Amino acid sequence: MQEYERKHQQLLRKLAPECTVLLKSSNILPLSAPCSIALYGSGARHTIKGGTGSGDVYVRSFASVEEALVNAGFTITTRQWLDAYDQEWQSARKRFISDIRKEARKQHINPAIYSMGAVMPEPDYNIPLNGTGNMAVYVLSRISGEGNDRRVVPGDFLLSETEVRDILEVYQKYPNFLLVLNTGGPVDLSPVMAVENILLLSQLGQVTGEVLADLMLGKAVPSGKLTATWAAKDDYCKEGTFGEPEDTEYREGIYVGYRYFERDGKRALFPFGYGKGYTDFRIEMLDVEQKKEILSVCAMVTNIGEHRGKETVQLYLSHPKGNLDHPLKVLAGFSKTMFLTPGESQEMMIVVNLWDVALYDEKKDTFVLEAGDYRLWLGSSSSDTEEIGGFTFLEEMILEKRREAPQISEQTKRLADSLNDEQLASLCVGSYAEKEGISSIIGNAAQHVAGAAGETTGKIKGLPYLIMADGPAGLRLAREYIKDGIGVHALGNPIVEQMAEFMNPLIRRLLLKVILKKPKGEVFYQFCTAIPIGTALAQSWNGKLWEACGDIVGEEMQLFGIHLWLAPAFNIQRNPLCGRNFEYASEDPLLSGYFGAAITKGVQKHSGCAVTIKHFCCNNQEFNRYQSNSVVPQRALREIYLRPFEICIREAKPLALMTSYNLLNGIHTSEKADLLKGILRSEWGFQGLIMSDWIVPSAKNSRLKYSVSTVVPSIKAGNDLFMPGSAQDYKELMEALREGKLTREELQYCAEHVIETVFKLIEK
Ligand code: BGC
Repeated sequence: MQEYERKHQQLLRKLAPECTVLLKSSNILPLSAPCSIALYGSGARHTIKGGTGSGDVYVRSFASVEEALVNAGFTITTRQWLDAYDQEWQSARKRFISDIRKEARKQHINPAIYSMGAVMPEPDYNIPLNGTGNMAVYVLSRISGEGNDRRVVPGDFLLSETEVRDILEVYQKYPNFLLVLNTGGPVDLSPVMAVENILLLSQLGQVTGEVLADLMLGKAVPSGKLTATWAAKDDYCKEGTFGEPEDTEYREGIYVGYRYFERDGKRALFPFGYGKGYTDFRIEMLDVEQKKEILSVCAMVTNIGEHRGKETVQLYLSHPKGNLDHPLKVLAGFSKTMFLTPGESQEMMIVVNLWDVALYDEKKDTFVLEAGDYRLWLGSSSSDTEEIGGFTFLEEMILEKRREAPQISEQTKRLADSLNDEQLASLCVGSYAEKEGISSIIGNAAQHVAGAAGETTGKIKGLPYLIMADGPAGLRLAREYIKDGIGVHALGNPIVEQMAEFMNPLIRRLLLKVILKKPKGEVFYQFCTAIPIGTALAQSWNGKLWEACGDIVGEEMQLFGIHLWLAPAFNIQRNPLCGRNFEYASEDPLLSGYFGAAITKGVQKHSGCAVTIKHFCCNNQEFNRYQSNSVVPQRALREIYLRPFEICIREAKPLALMTSYNLLNGIHTSEKADLLKGILRSEWGFQGLIMSDWIVPSAKNSRLKYSVSTVVPSIKAGNDLFMPGSAQDYKELMEALREGKLTREELQYCAEHVIETVFKLIEK
């Protein structure tokens, strides 16, 4: 292991416990010493470090919970159970693959595409729960990923019959029992709410197993808080639709997550902002001050328990009764303490820019802070708050919309003016190999760093290319590669290998032969660090931690020669079933925005490195993601879905942004000029590069209402760079120019943003 790997893992081991949320506790933790443990559950040996797809990170090695507990000195008394579970899992997997293939054929979809992100529900089995010892740990895991959503079926969003039966039996049988959730998002815990100790370990990347051991032994303490509402399946909002192949209607408007639960007086199992620790805190308000749009609240937090810990103080705001309806209260600010020892206090200051919580008046087409009495609430979760007074606006404040002109340097202008149409067109499509292979389809299109997702063109003399790699749980690069005269060649490709499982056996054999071809030449290695998934990071509610993780990524980007990280991702977790929620931060826009900003700062402090915030916007479901239309009312769009991007851009100036696959109100986001040239550039003053998501025409389902987004309308609308790029995209641009469907000015406008970003990132 190399020095940077060791350093990053040690740092993560210190930081990641803050991302875990203690949901229930009867104070059995921490233990005084390692002991015998009866270890059960899907995640005990098959521990999940993060989701699948482009959000995966291919690490050097990874310890399961079983391995990490053994390494920490525990004795596992359930080896037989774990072996028997492995066998059950293998046979269930075979059945699952054959079912998926049948279903894909029925729906006339390529099984490899159909299978992407498809989750195998937990199988049912009957294995005796006969481990010895006084302590049992049951690790329940779930995985998901891009391309498919989670489902309300046993073994996915619901617990399987076997899980419920075994968890309750183990809870009865052992004097001390801990249920550990190794999931990227909520599961419906209602059947097991009797259990007294539940820890949301989440998926912490590389250090998932070790962190559990540290928490159990009190070497670390949990201090995370939920960033989404955890509820029983029937209690989630059903006003809008979700997972429609064509039009998904966001009829619930602004009432997303806790905003909906509070409006309807619904009880969550665990509310937004909730989380315990090994100790208790008292929060007292000291002072409230408001001048125009700036609000400051000062509070004192005291550790009144018997263990060290950290508390997150949350400030919520209620708007006055005015013309616009609004949630009972919304998160307006938050601040996390340092480690406080028993008896210790800390004074906390929360400063709020009230425009971050302003309401959008559709009639006035702008944000307003209505006249009237604003009330403030302070507490340790959305449901555990105390009213602390408020302030009054005698008159309504109306936000004046900015109209910014794009700023392009003279140097860029000069270069762009000197280029011919062909050169401008190459700048606006991602660099593609003359002979395209499958790699470009699955986000593996770069030619200079193995396994990186894409590049800008290298065809313009004197202008370097930019290399991009995923995100968000670290850098996704190939672990092994060889070099030859043409470039670098990744050895193996986990995404293709997973897809290959679902292909017909002949194609699979051929494909694997190509991918797994034994290399000629020296093998090189790239080991990147897997950081916790987006939701886990967000659960820390700690801006410094987010920045530190951005810093880890920035350091590895410099090491491997990556200019643009395709992250952070912070789409709103509108529905708990979205297959990519684990990559995202929260159901709350303010929290998501500040999360994105802090990670951006961490990455962009490294020279030559920048982020690509994504997916702009309303990419809130994975099912049919290339051709699904999010139908979103203007107000919800502004207050909920655009707000995190607006905050992140204002606070941290990310250098790049990725549009989403989906359509927004009937038009693809990459083809929507009012969104890109209007809101993003002109209103928010975004100066960076706008690139498309990795558009794969082969994924098109021609029987559906909408098509996949294409290059010409995207460039016309100001989506500067079409990714991953293909010879066909280039041809279409040139044809459109010849036929007068695209002007040189439109093309040059986009190309200039690409050139400008190259100049910003690569010093000449
Ligand atoms: C994902 C993006 C990712 C890109 C490149 C797409 O499938 O939606 O989030 O950055 O691939 O790998």
